[in-house]
Amino acid sequence: MTFPDRSNAALAARDLRHLWHPCTQMHDHGRAGQGDVPMLPIVRGEGAWLVDADGRRYLDGISSWWTNLFGHANPRIAAALADQARRLEHVIFAGFTHEPAIELAETLVRIAPAGLERVFLADNGSAAVEVALKMSFHYWLNRGHGEKTRFIALTGSYHGETLGALSVSDVALYRKTYAPLLLTPFLAPSPDAYEGEPGESPAQVAARRLGDLRALLERHAHETCAVIVEPLVQCAGGMRMHHPDYLAGLRALCDEFDVHFIADEIAVGFGRTGTMFACESARVAPDFMCLSKGLTGGTLPLSAVLTTERVYEAFYAEYDAGKAFLHSHSYTGNPLACRVALETLAIFRDEPVLERNRALAAHLARRLAPLRDHPHVADVRQTGMIAAVELVADKATRRPFPSGERRGLRVYLHGLEHGALLRPLGNVIYFMPPYVVTADELDQLVDTAIRGIELAVR
Ligand SMILES: Cc1ncc(COP(=O)(O)O)c(C=O)c1O
Repeated sequence: MTFPDRSNAALAARDLRHLWHPCTQMHDHGRAGQGDVPMLPIVRGEGAWLVDADGRRYLDGISSWWTNLFGHANPRIAAALADQARRLEHVIFAGFTHEPAIELAETLVRIAPAGLERVFLADNGSAAVEVALKMSFHYWLNRGHGEKTRFIALTGSYHGETLGALSVSDVALYRKTYAPLLLTPFLAPSPDAYEGEPGESPAQVAARRLGDLRALLERHAHETCAVIVEPLVQCAGGMRMHHPDYLAGLRALCDEFDVHFIADEIAVGFGRTGTMFACESARVAPDFMCLSKGLTGGTLPLSAVLTTERVYEAFYAEYDAGKAFLHSHSYTGNPLACRVALETLAIFRDEPVLERNRALAAHLARRLAPLRDHPHVADVRQTGMIAAVELVADKATRRPFPSGERRGLRVYLHGLEHGALLRPLGNVIYFMPPYVVTADELDQLVDTAIRGIELAVR
């Protein structure tokens, strides 16, 4: 009797024969796994850890693409999922409904910024952004403003990679190739504090950038549906952070110029930045709030767009009026995903998650502080449970390392060798761990990153 080979090498070779992975130059892995970057088959998750087929463990420092909140294979979430699977796995969500979706909508409305009372479900972050963009445009059309066809996005923003979401994104790595296929947004300069003038505080950068946004709105509000932003942290754009004043000012400008405010909280929602939703830091409510990733604790794909009754009313009419929002995905409102989201929100209800995160975030800040003096570190920044270290070739001028040198990749490979999943964004090494991480585990993660940085900048 022969047993199939389930080693890392054997599974990686089988994977590379047929699969094509996201955000990856497959050549890095080589045709049979002999490339510079390993393909790692994961067989199990336990809390903040992932375990590969050879039994090696990796501390998930990036919450598996910012999705995981309460640990891998979380027993409470797994039990809810199993229970739901035995009852109802899926049902068409047009003309039919179910309790997990109903209760999820009720719960989201209860915890969201005031005024967001309608919930439209989709199944991933990019789809949520598509929904928000289309809904905003369609709202204005239904209100007799078909001339509003444009969007304002921030420089350095990232909202996903379907064509609409990519259209309002400004990360060249993802956008440049497809630019001929995309809508062209108006770009407002990001309030990113790292890009501020020397001596300027984050609040001053925010104020100056609000001036730029005002100028843009003065010229283009009449043709603009919405301004879309990632509140507090532009994640894929390099974990660039801004002052909450920008959000308060943005809300006021959107009201003044009659355009929508779309808050893409897909990466920053659910406690990541210190409050349940990042918009709370400025005590503002957007017109649309996109949620995904942490919504299911990182267990199943699901997204939600929350909006106002005012928006909903613009679509509510006799069928013949042709005003309905007909956007659909086959798996809209999937009961398994909704049930898992409910269990995730129940953990927030039952446990002092935000309080615990505050202590963890403070610990992380203390551990990263010494890096500020490193000759190749231009910035150490943090907002709640997101921390980032900006590596540069020259500290005085902040000249970046040429991207072709792939310094961040060296940190990634060092991390894997030493049991840590760190996946830098270019030359930005960041930490975005699951909330169940312990202080000791954070120490381990930071120590590995610091050693990796030493090797990478040589
Ligand atoms: C802010 C933001 N918006 C949208 C998306 C797209 O989400 P998804 O990858 O689920 O399509 C992401 C993904 O990283 C994101 O960070």
